[in-house]
Parts: sequence; C-alpha cells; structure tokens
Amino acid sequence: MDWGLKNRISQIIKPQNNRALMLAVDHGYFLGPTEKLENPKKVIEPLLKYCDSLMLTRGVQRTSVPTSTNVPMVLRVSGGSSIIGEDLSKEEITVSIKDAIRLNASALAMSIFVGSKYEHQTIVNLGKLVNEAEEYGIPVLAVTAVGKELGKDARYLSLACRIAAEQGAHIVKTYYCENFEKVVQSCPVPIIVAGGKKIPERDALQLTYNAIKGGAVGVDMGRNIWQSDNPVAMIRAVRSIVHGNSNVDQAYKLYQSLRN
Ligand code: 5RP
Repeated sequence: MDWGLKNRISQIIKPQNNRALMLAVDHGYFLGPTEKLENPKKVIEPLLKYCDSLMLTRGVQRTSVPTSTNVPMVLRVSGGSSIIGEDLSKEEITVSIKDAIRLNASALAMSIFVGSKYEHQTIVNLGKLVNEAEEYGIPVLAVTAVGKELGKDARYLSLACRIAAEQGAHIVKTYYCENFEKVVQSCPVPIIVAGGKKIPERDALQLTYNAIKGGAVGVDMGRNIWQSDNPVAMIRAVRSIVHGNSNVDQAYKLYQSLRN
C-alpha cells in the first residue's frame, strides 16, 4: 500500500488503537433537510472536536465546516437519488477526483446497493472509483445496505461487505446485526458501523459497544448523535467507548453527567 493511502487511512482509523469515530452528516444528499440537521453548520460546530473524522458532502463541507479545521474529511462522492424519487439505488459518482483533492479529502465515500435494482451500476462504480482514487493515494469507504427494503441480517450484510471489499474498498460501512462477528470475519478490510435511526441513548451506546466487541473498528454515527437532545454529551459518551474502552454503564453515566 502506498504511503499516502496508508497515511490517509491512519487519519481515519487511529493507529494507536485501531479505532475510529466518524461523525456522519451526509444525510441531506438524498433526504434533504433531515430532522435536526436542518442547519449543518450549527450541528457540526460543537461536535467537531470530538470526532476523528467527518463524513459529509462537498456542499456541506464548503458551506458549513471551517477551513481551519484539522479533522479529516470523508467526502461522499455518490448521489443522484432522493427519498421521493424512483429508486434510492440509482446513484452515480457525482464528484470528480479533482474536486475531492481540492477539498483535501482524506477518503471518498460512496454507496453500493447489493440486491437492489441498480446493484450493477453501483458496484461497477465502486470498482472505478477505487481505480481512480488509488492513483492519488486516496482510500475509498463503501457504504452498504442503505434502504428500507433490504433485510439487514448477517447473511445479507456479509454478502454486501464482502463484495465491497472484493472491489477494492479500503473501509466498509455497514449496520450492526445479530452474529455481527460473521460479517467481520468474512470481510478482509476494516468495518465501521452506522448508527441507524434514532434510538434511546443507552441503546445507541450499547450498539456502539457491541459493534466494537464484534470486531468493528468503530462507528460512523449521525442521527443518534445530533438527533439526541444532548448531542455533545452523546458524542462524548460514544467516544468514551470507542477510544476510552468504557463499558455501556460507564458511557451512559458520562452521558447523564454531561447532559443539560
Ligand atoms: C446514509 C449514510 C449515513 O452517513 C449513515 O447512515 C450514518 O448515519 P446514521 O448513524 O444516521 O445512520 O451513509 O447513506
């Protein structure tokens, strides 16, 4: 692996403990003004210092993130569908490698939709993106299993994650599930877990803990942080699990002690 590629991955997955806390704020790319993410700048500002990296679109990066930040950017480069459109899986690569470099991206993120109508084009696009990104030493994070209609069990997630890794993705994002260890064991690249829809804070901390215990390198969490009534308390509690090795009780106590 080239020095630049390794260096960029180490900005996202911290080499000292092989863990990652990514804050996801890219939801607007197909959901529009998602609840409690209506003003990304306001959401990001207090949370930025507690995440290892930020997953976002170029629009949000340019308008809502200070250029002085040293937090690495995981830039979503796929899109083309909306929650009310024909099919969520009908995505293409929408950002050029040149623009990603201008934005100083530490990684590129795109979705693949295994088992969906546009499975073929999204998987081929992943392969092509890896070809191009590797030319410049930029890692690719493949997002799997977004969409309501897909069963998010270990069998499906193993299939989707493995396909992403086989196409050359350097990191794979998926969901936590029962028998999650099987998903991790059959995927040769690091797995990071999405938070999913908002659940009670203690449950989201349990999910974080379980995911890491099951072999994930960390979480790429959005709604369970910024849809919390206490986003800073929540990200700090998640961080205490990812980087402080807290158990769920300890993390929840921290959340309670920090919330308003
Ligand atoms: C949507 C995404 C999101 O970044 C991902 O789902 C993580 O956010 P959340 O924790 O809210 O699920 O990739 O396509």
